[in-house]
Amino acid sequence: MSTARIAVDADRPIGAIDRRMYGVLVEHLGRCVYTGIFEPDHPAADEHGLRRDVMELVRELGVTVARYPGGNFVSNYRWEDGVGPLARRPRRLELAWHSTEPNTFGTDEFMTWCRLAGVEPMMALNLGTRGEEDAVNLLDYVNGRADTDYANLRRANGHDEPYDVRMWCLGNEMDGPWQVGHKSAEDYARLALSTARAMHMVDRGLELVACGSSAWEMPTFGDWERTVLELGYDEIDYISMHRYIDPAAQDRADLLAAGVDLDRFIDGVIATADAVGAKRRSDKKIKISVDEWNVWRISEWNAIEHGFDPGDWPLAPEKIEDVYTAADALAVGGLLISLLRHADRVKAACLAQLVNVIAPIMTEKGGRAWRQTIFHPFATASRIARGTAYDAVVAGPLTATGRYGEVEALDAVVTWDEQTATGSLLALNRSLTESLDVTAALGASRVASARILAPEDLDAVNTADEPDAVAPVAHPVELADGALTTTLPPASWLAVELA
Ligand code: AHR
Repeated sequence: MSTARIAVDADRPIGAIDRRMYGVLVEHLGRCVYTGIFEPDHPAADEHGLRRDVMELVRELGVTVARYPGGNFVSNYRWEDGVGPLARRPRRLELAWHSTEPNTFGTDEFMTWCRLAGVEPMMALNLGTRGEEDAVNLLDYVNGRADTDYANLRRANGHDEPYDVRMWCLGNEMDGPWQVGHKSAEDYARLALSTARAMHMVDRGLELVACGSSAWEMPTFGDWERTVLELGYDEIDYISMHRYIDPAAQDRADLLAAGVDLDRFIDGVIATADAVGAKRRSDKKIKISVDEWNVWRISEWNAIEHGFDPGDWPLAPEKIEDVYTAADALAVGGLLISLLRHADRVKAACLAQLVNVIAPIMTEKGGRAWRQTIFHPFATASRIARGTAYDAVVAGPLTATGRYGEVEALDAVVTWDEQTATGSLLALNRSLTESLDVTAALGASRVASARILAPEDLDAVNTADEPDAVAPVAHPVELADGALTTTLPPASWLAVELA
């Protein structure tokens, strides 16, 4: 047993936690949309074909914003195919995931889902096969108030009120050679800038996200961001970054330290963006949108996904349906701490994805819906970690990892919401072998709840038959004179709700 102390300087907050911190990706990929959120034949479907059972879980997950319609999908998507009378919607080859896109779910259905789920829509634009003109047309369809053909088309389709979508992604992972319409940094920067200018001619207040790197390992990382920002600094509000942690390509100690990986990547993007800003003597700070992040056994996926059959274009096939372990949930808990630690610059983040595809929620076609292990840290953080983030300065033992060397065994972040006078302590014991006696000087007067994920079996998973095999349980903590004390077992993630 070791001891660890947490100190928090209440006069030095990190920054406000944007409500968009708890976003997700909803992509036309596999069964995320079809038989995920949308399944008209399902017994739980509402009059729009949306699954009510899934909707309830989405609300419980605490999702604030949803990025749509991709992902890689968007780079070959024709949005017009997905609006208007169903009988006139075409079926198309979907190149990114080698599927048939039936287009029975499109922009209007997504907006309806967002409204009912209480989620803000974030739209991604196709800058793979399309450009400025289509971006402006879609913007007019979605937000248009004037007497124009596209705004009138939306009205004719039964949606009088504009949707007023504020956040728009200028393409998806355009640095990746797998992307339909992949571009060099220079070509993408020019297209992103001219699209941003055109979008801003329609509405100067739109918040625009330029593509950053699809992974920290990309050979273009750094130069890509610099090129895009040198050209687009004045028109762009956010630079994106995507991060997937692969448990199949690392050991458990590394997996539990996934937050170190994300810290380094985020810090690298901030450094690059600020170097461009400094050269311009600009006061403006570019925000970061981590608009895809999760744990994903991507090496296993890459190993099986060879050679598409040109005669086989399935509709909503089971693709990338990772089953998450208890250890994966701890890694997600660590990634959330890292995101919150960067709340001053990370102003949007999307867990990728929402349902079935590397997702916190799973469904059976025509059947049940349940929570994967990773559902729990996300739902907890989204519920209690709001307001302002504070750095938790840790003094305690180190633990050894292969990838990152020795790292703090205890990782933590503290939040406080002035408006509700509630806060949180999120803490991860990354050590696989040592318990930690933790003392945290928080100045809180009451603990509203304390729950822990401390799995006996790190390989345990949740299934339709055993949906609660891995779930947080109540954990004893003591509070005296504003200082909280507790013991964290090895490999555990604690969430304390403070008042
Ligand atoms: O989320 C799965 C895929 O991962 C997305 O479509 C793409 O943007 C990323 O490479």
